Amino acid sequence: MKILFFNAKPYDKIWFKPLAEQMNYQIKFRSVRLDEDSAGLAKGYDAICAFVNDDLNKNVINELIDAGIKGILMRCAGYNNVDLEAAKGKLKILRVPGYSPEAVAEFAMAQILTVNRQTHRAYVRIRDFNMNINGLMGENLYKKTIGIVGTGRIGQAMIRICRGFGMKILAYDLYPNESLDVEYVKLEQLFRESDIISLHCPLTDDSRYMINEDSLKIMKDGVYIMNTSRGELIRTEDLLEALRVPGKIGGVGLDVYEEEEELFYEDRSNEIMTDDMLARLVTFPNVLVTSHQGYFTKEAMQEIAHVTMENAKALEEGRDNGNEVISS
Ligand code: NAI
Repeated sequence: MKILFFNAKPYDKIWFKPLAEQMNYQIKFRSVRLDEDSAGLAKGYDAICAFVNDDLNKNVINELIDAGIKGILMRCAGYNNVDLEAAKGKLKILRVPGYSPEAVAEFAMAQILTVNRQTHRAYVRIRDFNMNINGLMGENLYKKTIGIVGTGRIGQAMIRICRGFGMKILAYDLYPNESLDVEYVKLEQLFRESDIISLHCPLTDDSRYMINEDSLKIMKDGVYIMNTSRGELIRTEDLLEALRVPGKIGGVGLDVYEEEEELFYEDRSNEIMTDDMLARLVTFPNVLVTSHQGYFTKEAMQEIAHVTMENAKALEEGRDNGNEVISS
């Protein structure tokens, strides 16, 4: 089995290389992002392995099919960047459904603690020996209300963490999980009553831009908004407007951004930032933007590599192992 990795980073090689050797698979790591320009590189391989910011649009899928690719191994959970219609009946797409919900939930809590207690600003001040704490005052999380949107694997891990902080939890899910001991409310009530809102649902036509001008209007003054899910859950333009209103937004943590695909995961420090929304976002002292790293723990990377290689084996053996997004 010959597998071509697109968008491969040094940390991917650490986890995938030994496993591939053990399984006798030939892996080629390419740092180039998968898109219409690079898809042709797949010729001669049995499968390709892609990540969240690769572009698997219709043309790319068709080119992969022409190149003889039998399957796409997504080394991530989400697949909103894949044109499923184009792939249907022609090639298999497998993913890693749930590798470490705790990794993402713990990161979401880290975001809350950072923007609330302003450790990101304290870090910068102390490096300049500025010991003044003026402007760094936060709020207790104890007894605050957190609204969890999406109570799947990550949402549930987040609920467990927030319980430890003594917070009140409101939950919303399109498909409430009756076995969970949590108070489900309508989305509007969650928006109205939460001190902190944390997004843990997938990006779909229903959820796109759920945080927008209208929903921001009904939120409490001083609300905190955390997004470790997908950028397009938030209409960034509307969030920027709300951030400009004094006292409206307490803090924002964004591990994802609606225009992240061609920006994140690369060193752009020597370039002029042409994305005006991102450039503006990072100027707010109460906004923390990170480069889609919520999943990035040792445990999660190990699990992603393990399941992706299991998926490769299932693909090779023509066996369904439950991780197919679509079967060919
Ligand atoms: P999951 O599939 O276990 O849970 C998602 C939940 O959202 C389900 O309970 C589902 O019913 C619910 N849901 C679906 N549509 C909804 C809607 N319109 N409104 C409210 N709830 C809705 O997924 P999991 O593993 O908990 O992941 C959640 C999201 O986290 C993923 O879709 C992905 O976008 C994001 N993610 C981010 C990572 C990061 O590194 N920042 C890493 C992994 C996932």
